[in-house]
Amino acid sequence: MNKQRLIDCAQTLVAGDRGVLAMDESTGTCNKRFAKLGIPQTPDARRAYRDMIVTTPRLGESISGAILYDETIRQQTLAGIPFAQALEAAGIVPGIKVDAGAKALAAHPGELVTEGLDGLRERLAEYASMGARFAKWRAVITIGAGIPSRGCTLANAHALARYAGLCQEAGLVPIVEPEVLMDGDHDLARCADVTAKTLHAVFCALNEQRVLLEGMLLKPNMVLPGLTAAEQGSVDQVADATVHCFLRNVPAAVPGIVFLSGGQSAELASARLNTMNLRFAGRLPWALAFSFARAIQQPALDIWRGVATNVPAAQQALGHRADCNRLARRGRYDPNTDAAVVAVPGH
Ligand code: 13P
Repeated sequence: MNKQRLIDCAQTLVAGDRGVLAMDESTGTCNKRFAKLGIPQTPDARRAYRDMIVTTPRLGESISGAILYDETIRQQTLAGIPFAQALEAAGIVPGIKVDAGAKALAAHPGELVTEGLDGLRERLAEYASMGARFAKWRAVITIGAGIPSRGCTLANAHALARYAGLCQEAGLVPIVEPEVLMDGDHDLARCADVTAKTLHAVFCALNEQRVLLEGMLLKPNMVLPGLTAAEQGSVDQVADATVHCFLRNVPAAVPGIVFLSGGQSAELASARLNTMNLRFAGRLPWALAFSFARAIQQPALDIWRGVATNVPAAQQALGHRADCNRLARRGRYDPNTDAAVVAVPGH
């Protein structure tokens, strides 16, 4: 294992004010999003959509890395360049989702465990040969009556740690993603408690599997009240609860925390990230960045709708969201300006 290369790559992904773009929706998830908008659910449509994203002008100014899906890393842009190569040319590090999805956990009703360890060593070697320099594995933790169970938390933490160890062996930086879902009516304190216990289990497992913390990134949920909770909390309350939870549970050796958006609106995700960076400037041991999928892509997808003539407007919307999150990393995002830009036709 070349430790310095892993450390350099992890640091590159969170250096300055850039962040990661997740564009690794599985075929099923991508098709569901396309179906809602009447877009054909074909390999060509998915390729055209990913082409729109990757060829967005100046994307590399705000985006340091992009996570691809197995289908996409094997495809080429409309100009005939493999996607991983097109990203490199744009100054963006190519990454790859390597989990096989979350499945029902035996004897744990309502809980999931992520699969994909079998054959992972061989798959990582292939992805590395195709140009991937980092990887992602998502574990899902559900909050509900009596859950998450310890069994579910430990099973997912163990799988994340096994995955991370294999990635580092293959020379890929692992993005470790334990996602506590937003679904439910639980309050902010309950999400903080579950997120803390999850992170504790994940870092115990990472240490047991001898994962180099300096050569990985953490991709967690923000600490949020459930989507249907009566009290949604202010942006300041969410920022404080989130940062306090991570200060207690994420070792300082980890170079960066790159949040998932998890179904928050694009504007709220930017505002909350901005407030964390503003309120805790100079007091954090790790970079606080982003690895959003929906909070960067959704406005662009709504404009694109599978129509080639919509590409420039969709790219403008994508670039705008990427820029907003870049500003949020510096604590300079202004929700009022953002709303004004979105309201201008043609933007
Ligand atoms: P969202 O930002 O849409 O939650 O997606 C991030 C991701 O990569 C989920 O695995």
